Amino acid sequence: MEIKAVGVLGAGTMGHGIAHVLLRGGCRVFLYDLSPRFLEAGAGRIAKGLARDVEKERLSAAESEQALKRLKATARVEDLGGADFIVEAVTEDFEVKAGAFRAIEPHCAPQTIFASNTSSISITRLAAATRHPDRFVGLHFFNPVPVMKLVEVVPGLDTSRETIEAAERLVASAGKTPVRVNDSPGFVSNRVLMPMINEAVFCLMEGVADAKGIDDVMKLGMNHPMGPLELADLIGLDVCLDIMTVLYESFRDSKYRPCPLLEKMVNAGRLGCKTGQGFYVYS
Ligand code: CAA
Repeated sequence: MEIKAVGVLGAGTMGHGIAHVLLRGGCRVFLYDLSPRFLEAGAGRIAKGLARDVEKERLSAAESEQALKRLKATARVEDLGGADFIVEAVTEDFEVKAGAFRAIEPHCAPQTIFASNTSSISITRLAAATRHPDRFVGLHFFNPVPVMKLVEVVPGLDTSRETIEAAERLVASAGKTPVRVNDSPGFVSNRVLMPMINEAVFCLMEGVADAKGIDDVMKLGMNHPMGPLELADLIGLDVCLDIMTVLYESFRDSKYRPCPLLEKMVNAGRLGCKTGQGFYVYS
């Protein structure tokens, strides 16, 4: 099946980034959010991103203009009926995500494919909450979406081969590289990344080095583009804690125990870049 129109649920950081790269790849996009404030901000950031693409000669001015014309920001669930493929990027909570799929399914054509951008919830479990688990797949994008090349493609237990192949074609059309990963807690990315971040927080808590020292070690010694604590601030400390909790509870293995300092930071509301303070202070 050819995918011409995609509905993106959620206009936050991930949702607007996903919409941006799909528009850049030639799709029509329905950007759906219940909050008019989020919709307006998301559409504004997409327009800014497309203008930046022209500045950097990734798109011509005409291509950028056409891409923006293919965007429809909407709070009307009925508009999603025009989409061949839905990518959900709402709050990382099973009930919220399952509720969003249940609310839109009746408005979608029978052949519509559904994908979740979850970073830690089981795809099989989310798929089971929908009417057609064979047409459900995980598509895990990375932040900042316009820059990061990877998308983990995660089939659930019942996902059909056609669904996986359609998802991989969509990812490729958005200029990303799909990597197929089985449905396991944290997939590959967060199973490897989050324990590293968590260990960096333990190093900070135990005074092995200060935040800058820890980050410098990983940047200068391991050639990571950002240190683990800077990266945690970018991802959001609440998100990091949620993912560590999923790993800990799913594997029941103490090696995934969230660092108490990470919990304390989240309890204090120091969630990283988005709140202006995490391991660093942002103006
Ligand atoms: N949003 C959008 N674009 C951004 C951005 C952001 N937050 N931060 C940087 N960029 C863009 C810049 O605008 C610039 O684009 P142009 O080509 O248009 O100039 C480009 O990225 C490079 O930026 P800079 O030159 O300013 O900075 P840099 O070279 O240091 O790169 C970085 C910045 C891309 C963020 C780089 O530090 C990096 O790759 N960091 C690691 C990011 C990472 O690991 N992300 C994955 C997080 S895990 C996740 O998302 C999944 C999960 O489930 C938790």
